[in-house]
Amino acid sequence: MPEKSKILIIGGTGYIGEFIVEASTKAGHPTFVLVRESTVSDPVKGKFVEGFKNSGATLVHGDLYDHESLVKAIKQVDVVILTVGNGQLNDQRKIIDAIKEAGNVKKFYPSEFGVDVDRQNAVEPAKSAFAGKSQLRRATEAAGIPYTCLSSNAFAGYFLPTLLQPGAILGDGNAKDCSCF
Ligand SMILES: NC(=O)c1ccc[n+]([C@@H]2O[C@H](COP(=O)([O-])OP(=O)(O)OC[C@H]3O[C@@H](n4cnc5c(N)ncnc54)[C@H](OP(=O)(O)O)[C@@H]3O)[C@@H](O)[C@H]2O)c1
Repeated sequence: MPEKSKILIIGGTGYIGEFIVEASTKAGHPTFVLVRESTVSDPVKGKFVEGFKNSGATLVHGDLYDHESLVKAIKQVDVVILTVGNGQLNDQRKIIDAIKEAGNVKKFYPSEFGVDVDRQNAVEPAKSAFAGKSQLRRATEAAGIPYTCLSSNAFAGYFLPTLLQPGAILGDGNAKDCSCF
């Protein structure tokens, strides 16, 4: 049986990352999760991190803005999945630099998980965010890194509670659970 790819997830404590860590460990991949030290000691997020350890994932301390930590983590794996949020999208190039230096990655999945950004006609503020993701695709190609983008369109469970206005607080702020969608 072929050996399972070793996978590093950067952003595992985020909205989408949590599901990817779970899927990776359940599929039997040696799974590494890069977490910031401050997150491990956070009372809420620390529980996620503990859950990762219990599911068999290996924690690696690091930060998107700490090049050495990225290279060290990336050298341990075959596949890098990035699930950083909108605040870090324009800094994803730091991962490209680290992957290039590490030189061992067989597949990179940038933080996409939305519309196909090369085929959309959005208005602002989405337009600029999509343009950033598109530029990252070009930079990844220019660096010669094998990559795949997962375009999953919008998640109803993410957008419905705020009626398509991410970050908005509606009513008393207690959105009903829309996980049934
Ligand atoms: N299609 C859709 O409907 C949909 C919905 C939501 C998101 N998305 C897309 O999915 C992707 C992920 O978004 P998200 O909402 O899941 O993100 P998120 O919840 O904001 O999570 C961000 C993750 O990045 C980590 N992070 C932040 N700064 C970091 C740093 N300096 N170094 C290392 N890690 C850092 C955070 O770690 P800490 O825990 O340490 O803060 C967290 O794990 C984005 O591309 C977004 O556009 C799509």
